[in-house]
Amino acid sequence: MAHNEFLVAWLKDAYAMEKGIAESLERQVELAKDHPTVQSGIQRHLDATNRHAETVKGCLESLDESPSGVKSAMASVGGMVQGMMPGAAKDDLLKAAMQDYSAEHMEIASYRSLILSATELGHADIAQKCQTILEDEQAMALWLEESMPMLTREAILQGQT
Ligand SMILES: [Fe+2]
Repeated sequence: MAHNEFLVAWLKDAYAMEKGIAESLERQVELAKDHPTVQSGIQRHLDATNRHAETVKGCLESLDESPSGVKSAMASVGGMVQGMMPGAAKDDLLKAAMQDYSAEHMEIASYRSLILSATELGHADIAQKCQTILEDEQAMALWLEESMPMLTREAILQGQT
């Protein structure tokens, strides 16, 4: 088994996951058009996600690899809200936040494994980049956690009108 085989495979998975999440977040920006505060939070999340994809791509290139063109199963982690239509339901922003929260935790787990494997295999630069991404993911999970009570209350209030 090649020395870096798993590290490369997991970086490719992480790239596919970030791309899948970015696609989903682009739809959510539209979904939140009537909710500027939430929309700007989703936009920040989208910008960070695009940055992460670029950083992971750079890590792959430092190993003379490139992102796989094949859609990995990990891409679907971010695609769970794909079927959702803007305005389809009064709780759609809450449902999107729940899906994002779940995706964030998949990312957190993935970057933890990447940091450990990069460190063990002597790629301190990749470990450091993944650590920076991990801190973004943790901050985003916290933001989602803090937003969900407000989105829950709003869904209930709208449901009563
Ligand atoms: Fe990310």
